[in-house]
Amino acid sequence: MKTRGAVIRQAPGKYEVVNLELDDPRQGELRVRMVASGLCHSDDHVATGDIPVGVYPFAGGHEGGGIVDAVGPNTPGFAEGDKVVFSFLPGCGRCRWCATGHQNLCDLGAGLLAGARWNDPTSYRLHLEDGSPVGQMCGISTFCEYTTVAVDSAVKVAEDTPLEKACLLGCSVGTGWGSAVNTGEVRPGDTVIVAGVGGIGANAVQGAAHAGAANVIAVDPVAFKREAAESLGATHTVASIPEAGELARSFTNGQGADVAIVTIGVTKGEHVAEAFSGVRKQGTVVVTGLGNVTEVGLPIAISELTLLEKKLKGSLFGSSNPSADIPRLLELYRAGHLKLDELVTTEYSLDEVARGYEDMHAGKNIRGVIRY
Ligand SMILES: NC(=O)c1ccc[n+]([C@@H]2O[C@H](COP(=O)([O-])OP(=O)(O)OC[C@H]3O[C@@H](n4cnc5c(N)ncnc54)[C@H](O)[C@@H]3O)[C@@H](O)[C@H]2O)c1
Ligand SMILES: [Zn+2]
Ligand SMILES: [Zn+2]
Repeated sequence: MKTRGAVIRQAPGKYEVVNLELDDPRQGELRVRMVASGLCHSDDHVATGDIPVGVYPFAGGHEGGGIVDAVGPNTPGFAEGDKVVFSFLPGCGRCRWCATGHQNLCDLGAGLLAGARWNDPTSYRLHLEDGSPVGQMCGISTFCEYTTVAVDSAVKVAEDTPLEKACLLGCSVGTGWGSAVNTGEVRPGDTVIVAGVGGIGANAVQGAAHAGAANVIAVDPVAFKREAAESLGATHTVASIPEAGELARSFTNGQGADVAIVTIGVTKGEHVAEAFSGVRKQGTVVVTGLGNVTEVGLPIAISELTLLEKKLKGSLFGSSNPSADIPRLLELYRAGHLKLDELVTTEYSLDEVARGYEDMHAGKNIRGVIRY
């Protein structure tokens, strides 16, 4: 069928809305009419070239929800009209990682940025009108009015789910919340630093608060972000990571934070090093943010790692199991414990995607969301 979507033709570049040809669903696939998509910073990394992808043009978007419009032949488990939230990481259910409760690390993730079908790497679900292939971000491309995806990427949610908010569960909420609760293992009474209050960091703040942290110190150079963090559970806010480290030491008899979570838009080695200095002996630094993927090296003293037994952990989708955790977080939202409505600061049309990213750079949004 014909559809429209926002693509990057080359990197660095800007998202541009074009006409597209979309494949009908094959066996094991669904076609979905998109309802809403969040504007995550990772799609901006694709635009700047910080994250190179397998093929250009490349259709962006990996945080979305929609309504199943067609189900591939012999594809059980889904019906037309079902509401789904996509997981930006697929879960096959069979690999070592899926089988041991680490669905975020499913082996299918290896094909995430190639843009083609995971099981058929020269086959693309999207094409330009002239027939040239268009890559799909994370196999889903939520910046399209319609998209065809593997069932591994779709999590069915209840009929009354407000997808214009629940779309955030497809990346930012699980990533941020899980960075605190799962990867960081925040405990009641902890002192936690969250560096960078965007879509991811806002949810790390919520996760740390849910896990019972006594002090949640949110860091962001933008005043509006610091105010938003306070309404999401931050007990203190500062403009830089070194200030947060100082504050954490003042609460802990000079020791430092138990956990520091780095969710900065363009994460650099020095941000990780600053967070590393802010945690106590045996403290944990969780690195969730991404930057230029070719950059190597962290300016950290090996002695600080060795002698103070500090821990440094990466976090992908908050070390979550999306098939279980997307419904679980939705329950927290329904029960009034998890804030989603407050995270959506501006809604955009598909044609306004590039403006949405300008607003991200200007620090105007916690999360911008495209409404179809
Ligand atoms: N690991 C994962 O699974 C995963 C998933 C999604 C996104 N990400 C990455 O997480 C990062 C955050 O994404 P986002 O969508 O929340 O981005 P965002 O742009 O919405 O938010 C980033 C925030 O960092 C702030 N910031 C910039 N410099 C800072 C500094 N020196 N100290 C403190 N704060 C600073 C910005 O003001 C902004 O509020 C990105 O790098 C993104 O690619 C990782
Ligand atoms: Zn994301
Ligand atoms: Zn798997």
